[in-house]
Amino acid sequence: MRSVWLDTDAGFDDWLTMLMLGVHPDLRWLGVSVVAGNAPLPVTLANALRIRHHYQLRVPIFAGRPSPLNAPLQTAEYVLGPRGMRTAGSYLPDVASSPDGDDAVAAMLDALNRSPEPVTVIAIGPLTNVASVLKAQPSIVSRIEELVFMGGSTDRGNHTPAAEFNICVDPEAADIVCQTPGLKRRMFGLNVCRQVLLERQHVEAVQAWSGERARWLADHFDGYQRIRSADGVVPMPLYDPVVTAWLSDPDLFTFQPARVDVEVEGRLTRGMTVCDFRVGPSRAANVEVAMTADGAAVIEAVLQAARKHC
Ligand code: BDR
Ligand code: CA
Repeated sequence: MRSVWLDTDAGFDDWLTMLMLGVHPDLRWLGVSVVAGNAPLPVTLANALRIRHHYQLRVPIFAGRPSPLNAPLQTAEYVLGPRGMRTAGSYLPDVASSPDGDDAVAAMLDALNRSPEPVTVIAIGPLTNVASVLKAQPSIVSRIEELVFMGGSTDRGNHTPAAEFNICVDPEAADIVCQTPGLKRRMFGLNVCRQVLLERQHVEAVQAWSGERARWLADHFDGYQRIRSADGVVPMPLYDPVVTAWLSDPDLFTFQPARVDVEVEGRLTRGMTVCDFRVGPSRAANVEVAMTADGAAVIEAVLQAARKHC
């Protein structure tokens, strides 16, 4: 049985990822560290707590880093709204619950050190918490089975023409993650997420489910799917749950080894993941990069997992 830790900036696609982890048949889900990203930390933390409460997930949640290692905080409310997740109607109701601790870096270190087997770390937000863990205890890499992250791109960006949001807002953290020796890494970038397209028909499928948990999901699917066009005609890529779709069915994806480095200085390209596929004896690969996905099957897996919670 695989043990996993989730690091998230709890927006809508992070929510779907949490739901998939919650119904995975053979995972030991050790904990969640929350980071600033889609919105400031108090908002992403409240989102994670709401998701846990309303969908009855049994997992400890810890507050992580409120700002990037070496850059001013950038968030995405200008696209995603004040909660860092767009809705076409209802919001997840507020809850009274509190996090299980306010030092996610210490909690993650503790969980990794105590786990009887190395842990798969899933990172679906800016890599600030993960880099802080690696900085605090470099030997922790021996307790990490693999770091699997949604972030970066082999080609175009989204936050800037060159850079994907999670990497772009904390490039120094991503640089530490990519350079740390002995760490196995797997990247799901925009290049593969853009093959996983959410269309109107998927929103309509969720709208047909009944119950209030389904209604919250349907309203957020609806809000999210209209990001690229108000009428929803333009499909919207789904990002974070590709990682959990891979956990459930690795055959839905293909990978290619590459040397991935993060641009931390470029005037136009800061936060770009420079992927060099010309690997060999003199240029070692450091990341397995997802290249293709069976997009329809990934969307189906996400919807099936979400439906189990409704
Ligand atoms: C990533 O940025 C966030 O807005 C999403 O949750 C996802 O992790 C996509 O670029
Ligand atoms: Ca995210």
